[in-house]
Amino acid sequence: MSSNNGQLTKDKVLEALRDVKDPELKKGLVELGMIRDIEINSGEGAVKVTVALTFSGCPLKRQIKDEVKSAIDSVEGVRYSEVALTSMTSEERARLFGQAPSDMEGIKHVRRIIAIASGKGGVGKSTVTVNLAIALNNLGKTTGILDADFHGPDIPIMMGVDERPVGSKGMLIPLEKYGVKLMSTATLAGEGVPIVWRGPLVNKAVKEFLGKVKWGELDYLIVDLPPGTGDATITVTKSIPLDGVIVVTTPQKVAIADVRRAIGLFKTEEIPILGIVENMSYLKLPDTDDIMDIFGSGGGEKLANAFNVPLLAQIPIEPSIRIGGDKGAPAALQQNANSQEFYKLAENVMKGAS
Ligand SMILES: Nc1ncnc2c1ncn2[C@@H]1O[C@H](COP(=O)(O)OP(=O)(O)O)[C@@H](O)[C@H]1O
Ligand SMILES: [Mg+2]
Repeated sequence: MSSNNGQLTKDKVLEALRDVKDPELKKGLVELGMIRDIEINSGEGAVKVTVALTFSGCPLKRQIKDEVKSAIDSVEGVRYSEVALTSMTSEERARLFGQAPSDMEGIKHVRRIIAIASGKGGVGKSTVTVNLAIALNNLGKTTGILDADFHGPDIPIMMGVDERPVGSKGMLIPLEKYGVKLMSTATLAGEGVPIVWRGPLVNKAVKEFLGKVKWGELDYLIVDLPPGTGDATITVTKSIPLDGVIVVTTPQKVAIADVRRAIGLFKTEEIPILGIVENMSYLKLPDTDDIMDIFGSGGGEKLANAFNVPLLAQIPIEPSIRIGGDKGAPAALQQNANSQEFYKLAENVMKGAS
């Protein structure tokens, strides 16, 4: 064999990568234009390949990364290999899905998908979801809500919606209220209908919400996840290409322990944690500037520091927030002192989305 034959070249790496397929689109990464860059140092036997995923939170990213790495490692002369991941712009994604229709058809023009999670139920996850969505919309960002809390789909009540979505050409048109688009299992099944959701069904339902709902152009799709770190949460997070997650907690110690578990889960799934929202942080006493720390103080901040993530907002216990939820007119519809932390949260989310 001549020495030239053993020479490591870009072409040889590209050749090896031709066999690696996108598990969802079932076409080669090379053919799909997902291989962005190949850097070679033939003297060292080092190769670095950059892959553009359809979504930064692509649930299959670890599998893709592993398959790309083993394809590179199979090339003669490779001693060090590295796979870097980047993500496509919404235009690139739309073009790609135009060629290869996919389960993600309905969200091809959605720029960012952000999930709202919590360590346990009752901490204000749905309250944060609706108020964040309305605040983003009022700040000029087109926004939708996907209620993926299959066991307690409260979004329609909180948004004051009881219609059912209608279909058009095989796609469902999301409902719209206060300028925000929304879809919920509750509106699909009808109120009061008990639904038993098991893993495969949840997976199928989520796929339909992403694939068969005409979300159209959205800057943000906010997803209300099931509470905690059980099967329902794991199934939903694995079925949705999330750009990031916001974890809601209350300040007391038990809640914090649950949140640590939730953060651990998202880290394992390699989903970026955008930050923490501390809800029911304190109570403003009537007619004074005094506040009362009902659940203790500093929990959210400690947690944010421990995990090196930002504390995005501290929302007080505020009767108008609860009343807004109960009557289907969320507090953030009014931009005032009672809703200002939701606007701060929205601005922090927008800052992170450059
Ligand atoms: N900051 C707040 N101030 C007052 N009430 C709140 C606040 N956050 C949530 N609530 C109320 O607490 C209850 C639980 O909130 P919810 O958003 O449904 O929690 P989750 O979705 O986490 O189960 C609801 O009745 C809601 O209106
Ligand atoms: Mg809820």
